[in-house]
Amino acid sequence: MTEPQHEERPHPPGPSLYPIAFAAGVACILVGLIVNPTLIAPIGAAIAVVFGFLWARDATMEYRRVPEPIEPERREVPVKAEAPAIPAHRGGAAMPEPEPGERFPRSKFLEASTLGLGAVIGGLVTVPAIGFMVVPAYVKQGYPSVDLGPLENFTEGKWFVTSFFQHPDAGEVSRRTAYIRNNGSLDGKPSFTIISNRCAHLGCPVQPNGPVQDDQKKVVKGEHGQRVTMIPAIPAGGFGCPCHGGQYDPEGNRTAGPPVRGLDRYDYEIKNGRLWLLKPYSVTTVVGQGKDARIHKYKLTGPGEHVDGWEQILYPLQPPH
Ligand code: FES
Repeated sequence: MTEPQHEERPHPPGPSLYPIAFAAGVACILVGLIVNPTLIAPIGAAIAVVFGFLWARDATMEYRRVPEPIEPERREVPVKAEAPAIPAHRGGAAMPEPEPGERFPRSKFLEASTLGLGAVIGGLVTVPAIGFMVVPAYVKQGYPSVDLGPLENFTEGKWFVTSFFQHPDAGEVSRRTAYIRNNGSLDGKPSFTIISNRCAHLGCPVQPNGPVQDDQKKVVKGEHGQRVTMIPAIPAGGFGCPCHGGQYDPEGNRTAGPPVRGLDRYDYEIKNGRLWLLKPYSVTTVVGQGKDARIHKYKLTGPGEHVDGWEQILYPLQPPH
């Protein structure tokens, strides 16, 4: 005699690893957006799509086809005359079996609607948060041209500590400083060296290693009325960083300390006899001086990052500037 069987229904499929692989793909996308949007993020997207598809297929299998009947496990139970099995019609009411032809039993509907509602709430909470976290890094990152005033303000051969507003509407937070020297004429055109004061280690403002002639400070107006401050300086010993002791020569080449490359520079152009500052760029080394300098120029990169050699692959890509 066998024990009455109450679970002679097919077993549901075992737990799946697809959700975990899908989550790993999403995590890979988020990390890739920060570290390497052109390589790691697409790999994460591919993983998420493949395993998301497999997960969805797995989860909806019951709805799409009749499941294979699986024989439930049976076991002989010794007969005990003094303890007969409780008849099935006694005790609490069991959940009724689905009606023949009923495709979506109530339990399935509740399960699907709970999961669906959770997914909608999760999406409403996480998508905007991730959007606000990631998107601002990719917008409004431009470098508008800045009018630094008439060329004659920049005496040939002299350095000027020049501070200006990159975004005049934003006020003081957009104040930047550059070290500017008029190198004279090159092929009939004015030549300038414009070095950023942002240290190539962690971004502290570097200072001239030499006297700064504050008493000769001059404030000039740009073409649109913005203020530009010019202070003559003599950085005979180059530039030094007060934070961790990084040192640079007068062309901005690193000579000592933790910086991994030379000081960034700015492009420039001359319009209507005035000097206009354009986009900054990164520099590894400068060979030569002044108008004869050969500049090893790279796309602008964050402080502390290598821009050449194998080390460059260790750093995240920059959002578009
Ligand atoms: S920030 Fe300049 S040396 Fe560290």
